[in-house]
Amino acid sequence: MLPQVKREFNYQEIHQISQIFSRIIDAKSPFTGSHSRGISEKTGFICQFYEFDDVTYWKMRIAADLHDLGKLAIPNSILDKPSGLTRKEFQIIQSHPFYTRKILERIDGFEDITDWAANHHEKLDGSGYPYGLDKNDLDFNSRILACVDIYQALTEDRPYRKGMSHKDAIKIMNNMAAEGLIEPSVTEDMDSIFRDSD
Ligand SMILES: [Fe+2]
Repeated sequence: MLPQVKREFNYQEIHQISQIFSRIIDAKSPFTGSHSRGISEKTGFICQFYEFDDVTYWKMRIAADLHDLGKLAIPNSILDKPSGLTRKEFQIIQSHPFYTRKILERIDGFEDITDWAANHHEKLDGSGYPYGLDKNDLDFNSRILACVDIYQALTEDRPYRKGMSHKDAIKIMNNMAAEGLIEPSVTEDMDSIFRDSD
């Protein structure tokens, strides 16, 4: 017989737990050594820039921590393959945000967090994955996480290459924004927020 203990946590407390999960997700593959951690920290600066309220701030930090949670469902034999992925293997990798959604949508109070986290590979023109959502479906906070994910991926060091400079990363992102893939205003604001961090 165990006592039934029920306790509600606020989002700041849940963030302490999601931070631990972000370390586990990052440790899954040598390719993503500090990817989730970097995204979470940068998302924090962006939320402060936009003066989001406290609850939204912590929900965004949690979404950033957990955005790649679905990668835990992807075998390392595929995730760590340096090149030559087959079409099938590529599809398996691209299913990770689907698993992120499936895991997070079961948690009460995680409705926004689930969308923001699971939409990080969607594009405004509908060419992203896993659902091919477009600008009519993607809210501003989903657009922020999509931009931070790209910026972090471009600027972080990988075992096989050095991270790009801030300037080069923003140049690529400006091109993507011009092509209608990502949110131009977020890209512009990220340029001013992170310009001096290079
Ligand atoms: Fe991802």
